[in-house]
Order: sequence, then C-alpha cells, then structure tokens
Amino acid sequence: MTTRSLSLIAALVLLAGHALNSAEPPASDWEWNLPKGFPAPYVPPDNPMTMAKVTLGRYLFYDTRLSVNGKQSCASCHKQELAFTDGRAVGLGATGESHTRGAMSLVNVGWAGTLTWNNPKMKRLEDQALVPMFGEHPVELGLREGDKFLPTIRADRTYQGLFKSAFPPDADPFTIPNVTKAIASFERSIVSARSPYDRYHYDGDDSAVSAAAKRGEVLYFSQHISCFRCHGGFAFTDSTVTARAPDREVEFHNTGASAGEGAFKAPTLRNIAVTGPYMHDGSMPTLESVLEHYASGGRFHNSPGKDPLIGGFQLSPQERFDMVEFLKTLTDEPLLHDPRFANPW
Ligand code: HEC
Ligand code: HEC
Repeated sequence: MTTRSLSLIAALVLLAGHALNSAEPPASDWEWNLPKGFPAPYVPPDNPMTMAKVTLGRYLFYDTRLSVNGKQSCASCHKQELAFTDGRAVGLGATGESHTRGAMSLVNVGWAGTLTWNNPKMKRLEDQALVPMFGEHPVELGLREGDKFLPTIRADRTYQGLFKSAFPPDADPFTIPNVTKAIASFERSIVSARSPYDRYHYDGDDSAVSAAAKRGEVLYFSQHISCFRCHGGFAFTDSTVTARAPDREVEFHNTGASAGEGAFKAPTLRNIAVTGPYMHDGSMPTLESVLEHYASGGRFHNSPGKDPLIGGFQLSPQERFDMVEFLKTLTDEPLLHDPRFANPW
C-alpha cells in the first residue's frame, strides 16, 4: 500500500471517528479537585461532567420559570445558606401543597447511592429531577408535558448561549433530558469538604476544632454509641457510591423515629447544624432532641424492624454538649456562601 493511500485511510478513520464523536456527549473538561480522603463520585457515562453543563444547570436550578406559576425553583426548597435544605419540617410546593417529607440537603449528592428518603430504585440525579418538575403527588414545581416552559427558555437569550455550549452536537438542545442532565451536573458539583472538621481531620490543623468537639468525636465513633456505623465515611452517610463501585447496594435503617415500618437512608450529617428540623418528617427540632431520641433507643421502642444498632445509651449533660459541639464542626461555612453555587440571575 502506498503512503498516500495509507494517509487517505488515516484521514477516513479520523473523519469516521469525528462523525461518531459528534453524536456523543462532549468529553469532560471537569476537574474535581477533590480533597484528601474523597474518592471520585460515580458519574453516568451518558452525562459526563463539563463546565458548560454545570453552568447551565445552575441557571436552571435557580429559575422560577421551572414551575407552573413562576413561583418556585429547585432553590425554593434547597437553599444554599441552609446547605440546600429549606428550614421547614416538610416541603411546600409552588401551588401551596405540602410534601409529606422534609427537603434533603444536596451537598455531596453526587456520591448518593440512592436518592430521596427511602426509594431504593431512585439512583440517578437525572431521573430524580423529573419528580419535583412533573410530580403530581405532591405537586412541587407542577410542570406538565407540553407546557410553555421549553418554548419560554428557548426564547431566552441567556439560555440560547448556555444550551448551545452545553450540548454542542444537538440541533435542538432545548429538551427535557438535556434540562435534567444539566441540573444533575450542577448538583454533582456541590462538594462540601471545607468544614472545621475537615481542616482538623484531613489537614491536621489541631486548632480547627475545640476540646469539647474532640471529646464529642470520640463518642461519635465509639462502639457503644455507634453513630458512625450508619453516618460514616467522608460523606457522613452510608449511602455512597464511587466511580470504582457504581453498583454498591445501599442500606435502609429504621431508627424508631416513626411508628411504622419505615426504613430510611441515613442522611449525610455534613452541615447538620444548619439543616433542621430533623428526620424525614421534620419531627425533631434540634440536635439535642435527636441525641435524646437515640439515647432513649428510638421514640417508638417497638417499631417493627427497628435496627439493632438503635439500642439506647447513657450520656451525661457534658457528653451531650460535646457531641453537639462535634456535629457543629461539620458545618462548611465557605460552601454556604460560595458564589459558584449561588443564584446566577
Ligand atoms: C417543594 C419543595 C421542593 C422542590 C421545589 C424541590 N425539591 Fe428536591 N426535595 C424535596 C423533598 C421534600 C425531598 C425528599 C423527597 C422524598 O424523600 O420523597 C427532596 C429530595 C431531593 C433530592 C434527593 C437528595 C438525597 O440526598 O437523596 C434531590 C437530588 C433533589 N430533591 C433535587 C431537586 C431538584 C433538582 C429540584 C428542582 C428540579 C428540586 N429538588 C425541587 C423538596 C423539594
Ligand atoms: C442504624 C443506623 C443509624 C445509627 C446507628 C444512627 N443513625 Fe442517625 N439516622 C439514621 C437514619 C435512617 C436517619 C433518618 C431517619 C428518619 O428520618 O426517620 C437518621 C437521621 C439522623 C439525623 C437527622 C438528619 C436529617 O437530615 O434530618 C441526625 C442529626 C442523626 N441521624 C444523627 C445521628 C447520631 C448523632 C447518631 C449517634 C448517636 C446516629 N444518628 C446514629 C440512621 C442511623
């Protein structure tokens, strides 16, 4: 074969490769810059992280045009200054309908093995976003298929640029799957790792937390109190999946917080001091009341299926204080004010 025909083949292969690539999502230009001790989160192969998608996702997350009456966005129930919760016992939708559950923090949600309080099947952020957008029981944002939502954002000059850069191969990038891909990418970018506890534990800054918090840490990780067995690891939850183990099974636990057989995922305790009221139904107003719940072995002692780890323990007033001080060291102040996660409008 001549050199010329060889280079022709090479050119054809390149062209074919290019044609194939143009149907695929653009390659990731995202740098995680994860702190020590944080493995890379699992990202679905059909939605690689890109700067452009994260940016677009942020605009959508904060856009009240994402609701039936222009009154709410994701951020109405997931407020940055409250570590992406809403301070309410249960969520309140755009049309005034109450949710049965409390809004959950979105920090480090990229590692969540299952999403929402207790749905073992809900695993992808791309799928989860459809629930608040279109769900009817309860109504959160209250959109319906065929609403004017897509035409409205298609006519918006800001979005014209943003959608084009986020989804360059698509002739018409204004689709619901692209909306959820962008929102999911923004959510994955919300990494919380700059708390005093991180400075103390990972960076070795001994002065970052108080002596009381250090005593509380010992109790938290002790065998008889056992908080770490469910709220453990870098994310302070047992519901994490990483790029290396995307199919890990996630456990659900019954802590005796409700009378029924309800088993829930152990939510992250990062930023827990700012995300009250607590539990799936917002029934515990303070961290002290949560500790009292665990110390007494669960509010509903005979709740069927209650986890054997919830057996109760004794704590002196000083020890309670120390544990609360420890939990407060998990608050990541820089995250709560980080302009990268703030309303861009
Ligand atoms: C009306 C208030 C409300 C709105 C609006 C809302 N959420 Fe939520 N969010 C909740 C509640 C309540 C839960 C817990 C749901 C459950 O367990 O069934 C939740 C849970 C979540 C979770 C699961 C977190 C975890 O750790 O498992 C994600 C992710 C999420 N919401 C993202 C979004 C996105 C994206 C939007 C916008 C498209 C949005 N939410 C709009 C109230 C709201
Ligand atoms: C057997 C597993 C398990 C153990 C052990 C455990 N938790 Fe939990 N934790 C959970 C689950 C599950 C929930 C959610 C329960 C619910 O909403 O009803 C929860 C909820 C919480 C919440 C409320 C979170 C929120 O976002 O509302 C806090 C705070 C908390 N736990 C702290 C602790 C502390 C402190 C300890 C140790 C004293 C502890 N947990 C031990 C599983 C556990």
